Amino acid sequence: MEPKRTLAVDEIDLSDLEFWALPLEEREGAFQTLREERPIAFFEEPEVMGTSIPIPPGNGYYAVTRYADIVEMSRNPEVFCSGAGATSLFDMPPPFLEFFGSMINMDDPRHARLRRIVSAGFTPRMIKKFEDDVQRAATVIVDDVIEKGECDFVTEVAARLPLKIICDMAGIPENDYDFVFSRSNVILGATDPEYVPEGADIAMALLQAGQELSQLMEELARHRAENPSDDLTSALVSANVDGEQLTHQELASFFILLVVAGNETTRNAISHAMEQLTEHPDQAEMWASDFDALTPTAVEEIVRWASPVIFMRRTATKDCRVGETDLPEGAKLILYYASGNRDEDVFDDPYRFDLRRDPNPHIGFGGPGPHFCLGAHLARREVTVMFRELLARIPDIHVSGEPQRLRSSFINGIKHLPVSFSKST
Ligand code: HEM
Repeated sequence: MEPKRTLAVDEIDLSDLEFWALPLEEREGAFQTLREERPIAFFEEPEVMGTSIPIPPGNGYYAVTRYADIVEMSRNPEVFCSGAGATSLFDMPPPFLEFFGSMINMDDPRHARLRRIVSAGFTPRMIKKFEDDVQRAATVIVDDVIEKGECDFVTEVAARLPLKIICDMAGIPENDYDFVFSRSNVILGATDPEYVPEGADIAMALLQAGQELSQLMEELARHRAENPSDDLTSALVSANVDGEQLTHQELASFFILLVVAGNETTRNAISHAMEQLTEHPDQAEMWASDFDALTPTAVEEIVRWASPVIFMRRTATKDCRVGETDLPEGAKLILYYASGNRDEDVFDDPYRFDLRRDPNPHIGFGGPGPHFCLGAHLARREVTVMFRELLARIPDIHVSGEPQRLRSSFINGIKHLPVSFSKST
């Protein structure tokens, strides 16, 4: 893929949802222009229309598009914090905090306290357990499509693995998977009409999805408090770090963060990789012929390429200067990881999908700092196991129709992706 520069720097408007519906090459071209000509570019905020909960217009934001600036800001949480407003573009109105006010939107020491408690659920024993579960789940997913000859790769393959693993970890029963899937689609895909119809009240849709997931968590937590098992919910309900336990609200918002972050990211990494392996069959062959040796670099390249999380926000806690740009206290800084991952100063030939890329210091899991992705290890595992199954058992699987992309400025998503392959048993 080569970026197309169809927009001059003054024509680029990252606040226009239509920008995010442009063909990928044009979007990439615009970010290339921003990195070169205006690496910390100011934009007015988009107006949020048709919501019953007022989301007051902010004072605009700065799009940070160069790798070095993103890394510098990630490394300095005292100056570039996560807790003022939120890590989303808009400050979170109070009703949202109950469901979405999780640790990703906090700073130390509160963030550190929560991260310490929830890390109790990511112990080596828990990690070992989910590694075995990932293998079993991937085998079943391939079993279920292998005789069909064609399927929707997103809903029948890529989305199923992270959904099952996260639900299993939390102890959510199988008959609630669809419920969790549809609610997390609303939370991260609210600007796409497939998930929240055009003209509907987005704020209410988000709150309702949050409330429904929170209710599910409440029931689970109550049950696990009385009947502990070896799942994450049991660990979280009983977690006690230095005498501290999660409050009810902390438990609910962490659960929502986990379900959403664990689902909507890995599936897109897997789907983007499928597209690239179709476009570059030599890479697919190379990986299949020496799977274990190539996997460590292949998985990092998949996350760099897909950059499923397009950005996270930080807020300046004081007047400061980054590169050539003076930033006032309170400035909203949108760290475009997806752009940093294409920065020509860091990556040779950044638009080449290269499973052997090394070094590959991508920031797909966030920059170095306290919020680095808690699920990175699990995500890498899921991508590895899924492709080991696919390349071994359905080696001629390939994209056979147009992908349907998610209309979102936040998640680089693919909603549907037709694939075909020789039928086998
Ligand atoms: C390819 C898949 C994934 C990608 C690209 C991804 C990306 C990210 C990014 C960019 C952040 C940083 C947020 C920030 O700096 O503000 C993050 C944080 C986080 N991720 Fe992931 N993620 C992935 C998979 C997962 C999975 C599978 C889980 C769940 C097990 C997960 C759970 C989390 C959590 C809980 C945080 C918040 C950490 C904190 O605030 O301390 N992620 N992720």
